[in-house]
Amino acid sequence: METYSPLPKYPTHVGIIMDGNGRWARQRGLPRLAGHRAGVENLRRVLRAAVELNVPILTLYAFSTENWSRPIEEVRGLLQLLDNALSKEVDEMHKNGVQLRHIGNLDPLSPSLQQKVLDAVKLTQHNRRLIANIAFNYGGRQEIVSAVQAIIRDGLKPEDINETVISNYLYTAELPDPELIIRTSGELRVSNFLIWQGAYTEYYVSPVYWPDFDKDEFYRALVSFSQRDRRFGGLHNPS
Ligand code: IPE
Ligand code: IPE
Ligand code: MG
Repeated sequence: METYSPLPKYPTHVGIIMDGNGRWARQRGLPRLAGHRAGVENLRRVLRAAVELNVPILTLYAFSTENWSRPIEEVRGLLQLLDNALSKEVDEMHKNGVQLRHIGNLDPLSPSLQQKVLDAVKLTQHNRRLIANIAFNYGGRQEIVSAVQAIIRDGLKPEDINETVISNYLYTAELPDPELIIRTSGELRVSNFLIWQGAYTEYYVSPVYWPDFDKDEFYRALVSFSQRDRRFGGLHNPS
């Protein structure tokens, strides 16, 4: 147990690649889905930690556009877990001031599951304590493709296009870019997460599997962030 001393700076928006559920389960001789279940249970703890650690916006990578290539039973299990979590957790999140959002493409989900997501977003839209943006069926490349399609559909001309316009056509249009992206389970990859928005993000890789990622680990990531010298291509102390 650590003490959580105040830090000189905090990120406003933190992305988390919630990785390692399968290995967490294997380590315990459990089926992969038991790891995903433990991963969903961990969300409550991490949302609480975000509030306590002064992080106002989280984007949580829950299911990628590439995750459809997993065995059908696992994909079905993950969809079922999303469905259950929406049934069981949303009221509590709403009470705790969490504003739920979704990024990604809902089209392949069943109409009833799509509706549940939209209902949760609507119910919580005025909450202000924490924005929890869930990336489900999200892929950074797919996001850019759909932004380009929408730009063409809207009839924009080449000279109208700039970085701000593209940012405003992404799913994250109303959110600032993440200053910090945390990946659990030690993997050193982006796996198609926020590839446009993450152009200048600081990365932190935690060795623990997602179900074990707790407030102490979160704080360690924030300490590391607070010590980074962010230069954005310039020089900090030009002499
Ligand atoms: C992350 O855990 C959850 C999803 C990608 C849905 P994994 O399922 O990728 O766990 P590992 O990487 O196999 O341990
Ligand atoms: C990234 O994890 C996607 C999510 C955490 C939802 P993966 O486990 O799918 O990524 P790879 O396959 O290791 O790149
Ligand atoms: Mg993984």
